[in-house]
Amino acid sequence: MSHARKIAVVPGDGIGPEVIREAVKVSAAAARKAGARLEFTEFDWGAEKYLREGVTLPPGAIAMLRENFDAILFGAVGDPRVPENRHAAEILLAMRFQLDLYVNLRPARLLDRRLCPLRDTSESQVNFTVIRENTEGLYAGMGGCFKKDTPDEVATQEDVNTRKGVERVIRYAFEYARQSGAKRVCMADKSNVLKFGHGLWQRVFKLVAAECPDISAQHLFADTLAMEMVLRPADFDVIVTCNMFGDLLTDLAAALEGGLGMVASGNIHPGSIGLFEPVHGSAPPLAGKNVANPVGAVRTSALMLEHIGLTDCARLIDAAVLASVREKQCTSDIGGKLGTKEAGDWIAARI
Ligand code: NAD
Ligand code: IPM
Ligand code: MN
Repeated sequence: MSHARKIAVVPGDGIGPEVIREAVKVSAAAARKAGARLEFTEFDWGAEKYLREGVTLPPGAIAMLRENFDAILFGAVGDPRVPENRHAAEILLAMRFQLDLYVNLRPARLLDRRLCPLRDTSESQVNFTVIRENTEGLYAGMGGCFKKDTPDEVATQEDVNTRKGVERVIRYAFEYARQSGAKRVCMADKSNVLKFGHGLWQRVFKLVAAECPDISAQHLFADTLAMEMVLRPADFDVIVTCNMFGDLLTDLAAALEGGLGMVASGNIHPGSIGLFEPVHGSAPPLAGKNVANPVGAVRTSALMLEHIGLTDCARLIDAAVLASVREKQCTSDIGGKLGTKEAGDWIAARI
């Protein structure tokens, strides 16, 4: 039996705890089957704690995660009772930034053609990965308000693009393509308008692409890419883009796969602790009803286990998820009749 991997579990708000419970159950089943050891430690960071104690991410949390854990499994944050959802930025964005998780890896893989809203589209035609820059851009939180709440108010939000930040994520995209046997990397920006910030993306992309002649490098403006992802999703293997466009394009990619309930993500800094979360949010209207689709969270756990070297566990989970979707042993958003818990039970039993 291999050494124990330590997982920090942050279920968060809304449907987060419901889908993460299933992801933990399924991971544990995969670990049992593959002879691996997983130790889960739960943290109650989220809206309830914030409303009760005024605490978002407790002091020292970042160092504690770095020192004691191999990975973080995260549900979602977002609660209508919290003004501006300020706890979400102080928990999720803080972990992304302070752990310097500069890659947001979001695979888009159609499991069953019946779930794709595009006409005549087969599973192999939706199979690409979006690599979203995850530590800067419009998310840097720079800017401010002047003459707030007056008719003359001015609000600015700055788009921060650093040479280091852009280069490392573009390099990661090429390396990811190489390691996964993909042939193409497409970079999307709006350098036709954002001359400075995205001009930098253009220049760096060309430099890195020239060093990687084995991979075909393509550039599209982000608006065109949104269209092409719908018209010709099979044209893409790896897409690399900035934080904001990556956020939008990955919800679009989720729709191609059957919806937000289906998709996984990894917030990664190579060689260091990563944070793994489904792409969806806390979906407050679904919370507490046992209806949320756990597949996104379960696939997230597979991505996490693969990242920490438990590839066998990840493959067991992928196969069981595929079977649950194909055999309609799943929740109603993807054509099944099961509840969240029952869908998780089915996947775990299949393993
Ligand atoms: P959402 O992802 O919560 O929901 C969008 C739509 O997708 C809804 O119709 C919802 O019912 C559906 N959906 C989402 N997950 C589903 C699942 N597992 N199964 C079935 N259907 C699912 O996005 P939203 O409504 O825009 O945001 C709600 C809250 O979540 C907000 O506070 C937002 O800021 C937050 N949010 C958090 C994260 C995160 O923590 N990573 C991500 C996105 C949104
Ligand atoms: C996501 C979410 C987050 C983001 C929010 C909740 C801050 O939409 O992970 O895609 O914008 O990155
Ligand atoms: Mn998003």
